[in-house]
Formats: sequence, structure tokens, C-alpha cells
Amino acid sequence: MTHSGRKISLTGIKPTGEPHLGNLIGAIRPALELASDYESIYFIADYHALTSVRDRTELATWTRSVAATWITMGLDPKRTIFYRQSDVPEIFELTWVLSCVTGKGLMNRAHAYKAARDRNAAAGLADLDAGINMGLFNYPVLMAVDILIMEADVVPVGQDQVQHLEYAADIAGSFNHLYGDVFSFKIPMAVTPPGDSGRTLPGVDGRKMSKSYGNTIPLFAPESRLRKLIRSIKSDSTPIEAPKDPDSSAAFQLFENFATPAEVADMRQRLLAGGTGWGELKNALFEVLNRQLTPLRERYLELMAPDSELDGLLAEGAERARQRARPVLAGVRRAIGIDPL
Ligand code: ADP
Ligand code: TRP
Repeated sequence: MTHSGRKISLTGIKPTGEPHLGNLIGAIRPALELASDYESIYFIADYHALTSVRDRTELATWTRSVAATWITMGLDPKRTIFYRQSDVPEIFELTWVLSCVTGKGLMNRAHAYKAARDRNAAAGLADLDAGINMGLFNYPVLMAVDILIMEADVVPVGQDQVQHLEYAADIAGSFNHLYGDVFSFKIPMAVTPPGDSGRTLPGVDGRKMSKSYGNTIPLFAPESRLRKLIRSIKSDSTPIEAPKDPDSSAAFQLFENFATPAEVADMRQRLLAGGTGWGELKNALFEVLNRQLTPLRERYLELMAPDSELDGLLAEGAERARQRARPVLAGVRRAIGIDPL
């Protein structure tokens, strides 16, 4: 049931740190591109972040910072339903209902949970569940609800989230099998960026840019910090005059994602020819990024201010999201036998 007849694209980002260039290329930009053809529903998965963020100030700041990033990068809150997950209580009621139709074995096999147990095993702990909270274990059920309650057709995510989408489809299938005579969920599908590895940005140490590796370039870092971070990108010690392989360089991969095609072609040719050092590439990368990010940085800082329009936008979005969620939850309640009094 789409309200406008168009298909629905939905995605969420967890506020677990400052948004970085990788989040922009892998998640925010593809989702914003879909927003022109699909009805779009994008949110901040703050209760998902609670599985790992324990500092209340950090949780609040990062939630705001993810929200401000979406708006700064061009999300139009008139066209996109945009909200904080925690402002839609219907999600948490449905989470219980769907937990009751989800096999525990399915959760035992979830990648994130298995990875946490593997880390415990590698650390030689006897209790493989040490330090793992029920939020982490139930994480895929909450994510399935985020998607199903909004009746999403497509969910733009990185490759690492594909299993979660399979789980959402599975959980919807279990419910539909039991209760489909009265209410059934739409089965959602993941959409991953084409050539996913091509769109996985490296961080300053050459590994995948990730908050968990502490190697990120935050999108709205002040100019001086941006320059320092770019200078610190790992490069080899090939002398300036020697020809260089652009594709072996993390700085070049970043450059490719932000410079114009003509700038990229020119830089590629200069590196291959020799006579251009990694330092020069990094200067060019800084110029390109700074040129694009400077005007956005101001908008971001405005939105981050405590009395900005962000709160009003999120409150309106939450109301629109709840209007979507309510009839779905009502259908579910009817289907399971929790009738209105
Ligand atoms: P992180 O690894 O920094 O914790 P998240 O897991 O919060 O990032 O990712 C949020 C979104 O950003 C996901 O859709 C993910 O696929 C995307 N993403 C994260 N890092 C990168 C990267 N280095 N390159 C491309 N996309 C990324
Ligand atoms: N699990 C996703 C991540 O770690 C975030 C997320 C939560 C999400 N709920 C979602 C993504 C619903 C897409 C749809 O990146």
C-alpha cells in the first residue's frame, strides 16, 4: 500500500560516531539518488546504537550529527519521511510481536552475533556470550520491524547488511504464513551499490574506512583537521620521479570519488607518467574535498546548534512515520487476536 502509488525506499543509519566520507559514498548518496524515483523513508536508528553506545552525551550528539548530515547532504524533509526511530513507539510494540514468530536459531546464526562470539573465542574466554547484550542478539528483529512497519519495497544498504534483509524477509514470511489470512507484510529487498567493493572507501590507513578502525575522515571536520588527516593517508615511498600505480593508492581512490572525471583522468595520467608525488596527489585531494565540503560545513554547523530547525523537522517526520505505522500495527493486532477493547 503506497500512498502515492510509487514504491518505497527505506534506510536507517546508526548514530555510533561522526559521519564520514565512507558513509556518504556507501549509504547517504545512493539513498538520496533513490529518493527521486521512490517514495523515501530515511531515519536515524538511535535505539540500534544503544546496543553499543553507553555514553548519553555521545548518543545524543551523534544522533543529531547523523540527522544534520542527511539534511546537509540534500535530503528534502518535505519529500522524504525523516525521523528518529525512538520517536515511533509502534516499532517497539511490533518488535515484541515479531520476536514471538522468530526462531531463536535464526538469531544464533546472525553475522554480528556470531562475530562477537568468535572474538570471545579468540580471546580465550570460556563464556562465548560474555559481554554480549540481548540488544545485540535481537538486533535483526528490530531492524526487520523498521523495514516491515513502513512497508518498504527496497532498502539501500552496504553489502554487510544483506543478511539482515534476508532475515527481514524470513520473519515477514513466518508471520504471513501464520496470520496471512488477516494481515500480511510486504516482502522487502536489499539494494546494494553496484560493484560494492568499488564503492567501499579506504580510510587513512588503507583499510576500509570505519568508525571501528578509527581511520575515518569525518565529513565536516574543520579545514585544518581535514588537511592533517589527508596528509596522514598511508602511501608508499616511491620517489617523486618514478611512475606510480594510481589504483594501489588510498588517496587516489578517495580522489576518484570526489574529483570531476576530467581531474581524475588527468591525475591518473600524471601518476602513471612519473614526476608527480603522493604529496601532490594529497594536496589535490584536499583542495577537491575542501571545495565541496566548505559550504556544507556551515550548513551542518547551523543545524547542529541546539535551537536549529532540526528538532522541528524530526518531530514532523515522526508524526508522519507514526501515521504509516499505526494502520500496520492495527492490522497485526487484529491478525494475532489482540482486539481493541
Ligand atoms: P562504520 O563502519 O563506520 O561503523 P556503519 O556500519 O555505521 O559504518 O555504516 C553506515 C553505512 O555506511 C552502511 O550502509 C555502510 O555500508 C556504509 N559505509 C560504512 N563505511 C563505508 C566505507 N568505507 N565505504 C562505503 N560505505 C561505507
Ligand atoms: N543495521 C544498519 C547498519 O548497521 C542500520 C539500520 C537499522 C538499518 N535499521 C535499519 C538499515 C533498517 C536499513 C534498514 O548500518
